Amino acid sequence: MSDLVRLERHGALGLIVIRNPPVNALGAEVRQGIAACLSEAEADAGIRAVLLAADGRTFPAGADISEFGDAPQEPSLPDLCDRVEACPKPVIAALHGTVLGGGLELAMAAHYRVAEETTLLGLPEVKLGILPGAGGTQRTPRLVGIKVALDMMLSGLPIKAVDAERLGLIDEISPLRTLRLDAAALAADVDAPRRTRDARSQFDDGAACMADIAKRRALPNRPLASRKIIDCVEAALLVPFEIGLDMEREAFAECLASPSSAGLRHAFFAERAATKFPELASGVPHQLDTIGVVGAGVMGSGIAMACLDAGFAVTVIEQGEAGVTDALSRIAALYEKGVAAGKMGEGALTDLNLTTQMEALSTADIIIECVSEDLETKRDIFAKLGKLAKPEAVLASNTSYLDVGALAQASNRPQDVLALRFSAPVQRMGLVEIGVPEGANPRGVTAAHNLVKTLGKTPVRSAAVPGLIGNQMLSAYRAAADRLLLRGAQPAQVDAAMRSFGMPMGPYEAQDDEGLDIGWARRKAMKNPDPEALLLPDILCENGQFGRRSGKGYYIYNDEGKRGAANPEMLTMLMGERRMRPLPKLEVTPELIQNHLLYALINAGATLLEAGTAARPGDIDVVMVHGFGYPRHRGGPMHEADARSLFEVSRSIAAFAKEDPAHWRCAPLLARLAAERMRFAQYQAAEAQK
Ligand code: 3HC
Repeated sequence: MSDLVRLERHGALGLIVIRNPPVNALGAEVRQGIAACLSEAEADAGIRAVLLAADGRTFPAGADISEFGDAPQEPSLPDLCDRVEACPKPVIAALHGTVLGGGLELAMAAHYRVAEETTLLGLPEVKLGILPGAGGTQRTPRLVGIKVALDMMLSGLPIKAVDAERLGLIDEISPLRTLRLDAAALAADVDAPRRTRDARSQFDDGAACMADIAKRRALPNRPLASRKIIDCVEAALLVPFEIGLDMEREAFAECLASPSSAGLRHAFFAERAATKFPELASGVPHQLDTIGVVGAGVMGSGIAMACLDAGFAVTVIEQGEAGVTDALSRIAALYEKGVAAGKMGEGALTDLNLTTQMEALSTADIIIECVSEDLETKRDIFAKLGKLAKPEAVLASNTSYLDVGALAQASNRPQDVLALRFSAPVQRMGLVEIGVPEGANPRGVTAAHNLVKTLGKTPVRSAAVPGLIGNQMLSAYRAAADRLLLRGAQPAQVDAAMRSFGMPMGPYEAQDDEGLDIGWARRKAMKNPDPEALLLPDILCENGQFGRRSGKGYYIYNDEGKRGAANPEMLTMLMGERRMRPLPKLEVTPELIQNHLLYALINAGATLLEAGTAARPGDIDVVMVHGFGYPRHRGGPMHEADARSLFEVSRSIAAFAKEDPAHWRCAPLLARLAAERMRFAQYQAAEAQK
C-alpha cells in the first residue's frame, strides 16, 4: 500500500485520503494508492460508500507535470478515473483548495461532489499546451454544458465554488472546516452511484450546442491544444463516451509531444525555480510597511502605483513643486486607468506621501531610486540615503545599465544596497530582477524578494553587474539586429520577422516607442563605446528624430502617434552607413533574421551563465518571457537552444563568425557544452549538484 494514500473506515464510510504535499499532484504512487484503496473499499462488505479527500492545502491540483514524458506507469490517470466512476458503491469527492486539471477530472469521475466554500475549480491544461486528458473533455460538458465547458478549458481559468454549484459542476458547498462531515452526510443520503458518463441532459438542445462549438472554431490562429479541445468537446456531443475518450487520449498525446507544450511546461518549472533565492534560507525577512521611491518619472510612478495597489504606504520624492505636481498627475492617471480597468482597488492613493523632502524616507523599509541614468546624480542620492535611511533599510536602484557597486560605495553601507530593476511598463510586465552584490545582507535580499512577490511579480536573481541579466540580453539581441541592418536587412523586415517569431514587437518598433534618445544618452556617457555599433540611431537623434514621440524614428508617425511606413530619411542614412562600413551582404529571409537574433540571445545567455550573472539557464528564460515578451510557448532562448541542440547552435554561430568575425564569437561555455553534446538543462542539473 502507498504511503501517500490511506483508507480509513468510519462506520459504513470508507474514507480515502491523499497526502502528497505540496499540492497532492496525482503522480504514479498516488494513483496506485487510490486504486488500491478503492479495491479494498469495494471488497469490504462493511463499507457502503466511499469518500475521496485530501490532506494539506488542496485536493489534487492536477496530474504530476514533472512525470510528463517519462515512461507511463499504471494505472494511468484516465484509467483511474474510469475505475472511480465504475465503482459499484457511491463515491463522493470532498474538495478544497485549488482543484485543477487531473484533480478536477478525478472529482468529475466521482459520483457526487462537495466543495469547501473557498475552493477554486479549473482545467488549466491549455496553459501547458495540452488538453484535459483524463476524461475532462467528455465529462465537463456532460455536467455543465458545452458553452461553460469550452469557456473553462479554452481560458484555463478557475471558477469559484459558488459558480461551480450554480453551473452543476458540484452538488453542494460546505462552510469552512466542516467539509468531511458534510460530504459524509451526503454519502449517507445517496443510495447508488450516479455516473457522469451517463448524463446527457446538457445536450438536449443539440443545435445550440453545435452553434457554441462553431463560434469557437471560427476564431482564427488557435493554438493546437485549443483546437483539440474544441474537437473533443464536439465529440462529447456527437459520439459515444468511450469513443470520445479515445479521441481525447490521441489528442492529448499529440499536444504533449508538441514543441509548444514542452516550452510551456519548461516555463512553468523555470518560473518556480527562479524565485528560489539562496538568501531565503538564511534571511529572516524584514516587516515591510513603507516603500520609498526617489524620482517619479514613468518608471518611478509605475513602481509607486504598484506598491500602493499592493497595500503599502508609499513615500515618493520629487524635485521642486513642479516635479511634485507632474508626479501627482502621472500617478493619478495610472490610478484612474487601473480602477477603470477593474485592476486596481479604490482608495489606494490615500497612502501616498509625495514630497520634496528626502528626510521623509527615514521610516521607509525599502527605498527604490528611479532617477535618470546619470551616475553622479545617483551617487549623490545614495550618499544621502546612506545617512538618512533607517538601519537595515534596503537601498535599491532601478538602474538599467549603471554599476550598482559604485552606488553601494557611495552609500557607505554597501551591505544594504541592491539593484531592483522593474521591467517597463511596470503595470504590464511581470519581471523584477534583483541584482545582488557580493556581501549583500541576506535579510535585505529576502525583503526585496518579499516585496516583489507581494506586488504579484516574478523576482529573478542576478549578479549585480551593469544591465543585470535582462538588459545584457537585450543589448546582444539589438546588436545582432543592427548587424543585420548593416548587412542588407531593413528595420521593417527585422521587425516583421520577430513579430512572426512571436515577439510582441520588433526591436526597432520597440526602440521607437521607448525613445531613441535613451540609448543615445547612454552611448554618449560610455567610456569605451563599441566601435562596431550601428551609428544610425545616433544620427537619427542628432537630426531630432527620437522615435514615436518626435514623429520620426525608424518609422514615421502621424499626429495621433500611429505608426506608418519606414522613415525614408532613416533609409537614406542607413544606406550611407552601409557604404561607409562595407560588410558581406546577406540573403535576408525571415528565418535568417530569427536565427541570428535567437542565436545572439543564446550566446549572450551562455556568457551570463559562465560569468555567474545568472545562476540557471531557466532564470534567463524567465527574464526573457516576463521582461521582454519572449513568447512563452517557446519556453525561452535557453530552452530553445536545448530543443535545437547546442551543437547545431554553436555550428551556426561558427558559420556566422566566419563571415563576420568582428561581431560573432561563440561563447566558450556554449562551445564546450556543444562539444560534450550536453544541453543547458543537464548543465543546470550538474551545477545544482556542486
Ligand atoms: N505537478 C507537479 N508539481 C506541481 C504541480 C503539478 N501539477 N502543481 C504544482 N506543483 C509544484 C510546483 O512546481 C512547486 O514545486 P516547488 O516547490 O518544488 O517549486 C510546488 O508544487 C508549489 O507550487 P506553487 O509554487 O505554484 O504554489 P502556489 O501555491 O503558488 O500555487 C497551484 C499552487 C495553484 C496549484 C499552482 O502550483 C498551479 O497552478 N499548479 C499547476 C496546476 C495545473 O496546471 N494542473 C494541471 C496539470 S496537467 C493535468 O492535470 C493533465 C491531466 O489533464 C491529465
